[in-house]
Amino acid sequence: MWGGRFAEGPAAVMREINASIPFDKRMWRQDVAGSQAHVAMLGAQGIVSAEDAAAIAAGLADVGEGYAQDGVPDELTLEDIHMLTEARLSERIGAVAGRLHTARSRNDQVATDFRLWVRDAIDAIDAGLTEFQRTLLDVASEHAGSVLPGFTHLQSAQPVVLGHHLMAYFEMIARDRSRFADARRRMNLCPLGSAALAGTGFPIDREATAKALGFDGPTRNSLDAVSDRDFALDYLSAAAQCSLHLSRLAEEFVLWASQPFGFVSLSDQWSTGSSIMPQKRNPDAAELVRGHSGRITGCLVSLMMTMKGLPLAYSKDMQDDKPPVFEAHDLLALSIAAMTGMVESATFRTDRMRALAESGYSTATDLADWLVRVGGVPFREAHHITGRVVARAETLGVTLDQLPLEELTAVDARIDARVYDVLSVDASVASRTSFGGTAPGNVRAAIAAAREELA
Ligand code: ARG
Repeated sequence: MWGGRFAEGPAAVMREINASIPFDKRMWRQDVAGSQAHVAMLGAQGIVSAEDAAAIAAGLADVGEGYAQDGVPDELTLEDIHMLTEARLSERIGAVAGRLHTARSRNDQVATDFRLWVRDAIDAIDAGLTEFQRTLLDVASEHAGSVLPGFTHLQSAQPVVLGHHLMAYFEMIARDRSRFADARRRMNLCPLGSAALAGTGFPIDREATAKALGFDGPTRNSLDAVSDRDFALDYLSAAAQCSLHLSRLAEEFVLWASQPFGFVSLSDQWSTGSSIMPQKRNPDAAELVRGHSGRITGCLVSLMMTMKGLPLAYSKDMQDDKPPVFEAHDLLALSIAAMTGMVESATFRTDRMRALAESGYSTATDLADWLVRVGGVPFREAHHITGRVVARAETLGVTLDQLPLEELTAVDARIDARVYDVLSVDASVASRTSFGGTAPGNVRAAIAAAREELA
């Protein structure tokens, strides 16, 4: 393809380090589509004859079919998917194939192909995340009234309902989706026609190719268009954040599925056994999702490091942009699917969740609030009184609502029997009616609103 000024071919290792075909063949669909848009434009502009353009278009379709049927071979001598496609085309239609690369360079070609690929990747991730959100909604509505301990510092803090807890993840995923949508909107401009770096003297129609490929328009600066990869970084950054969210939920499932918690039992399909300990049901999928988030974040850092010192315009370092994006995408898609399957098939042990919520003095804040509301006590003082009540309950080995009234009044005479109304975990969650709070009524309303938003 470029041998004119060379007397010798490349060394074998040179060939190996130079080739991207082993990974960029994954963009073959985008490569064929990009070339189709380009040749249609060349024909329409009279840059190549209508007849040649038609021959090239038919040949490209044939090449695409070949890839679909037989796969794309790792032909290292042809470097990358762009050269392979052109070589396949010339095998089919002969010398006229050489007209396809008029007014184009692999630099604008790869920038275009990769944008198209990332755009498709975003659409696939968005579909997966939507499915996951539906699952969260289903499980949340089943458990809008299921009490479990809410934690801070992983210490029992205040009771919440499981539906509220899962809806917290719904919110995170909603923001993830909006980050991907943002990235998509920002990247949806077409580099094709920027040529090697400076644009071209041929009378091309960049609006036409942009439109044919579903872009909102052409990029505005040729140097920027062939050398920016921030669209890929935007994708990786959204992917990394999303994977962190999945990882946090995965961690909760690891904890919840452990014997000391016992909040959830994973279905057989989403558990693994041990080769030595017959009693085991391990949450491997959750652990791997947690682990994958580290690798996905590594992909983001990898591409950032690739890009940080590159002067304008294209440098071959940029060929290394694809492996981290492909890897992060595969890991994220798998993580989303695994979390969806695991969450939707899990069984929550609501009795156990409730028992733990009741055991951690998690309604102590409710007692303090009651002293403020009913007894007119300043909150700081109420906090202190409640601390003494908790200490007393701890000594007697009972929960707050099991403390006899005389024990309560012995700590502070302003406490009376009405306090029992607020000491149960159900009363506690029912009282949290502030917007965004955990009261089951609130949670049901939030789920209904979210369902509507998704539909
Ligand atoms: N395989 C190359 C890449 O992925 C295509 C662009 C090559 N351009 C060049 N001037 N060598 O970056």
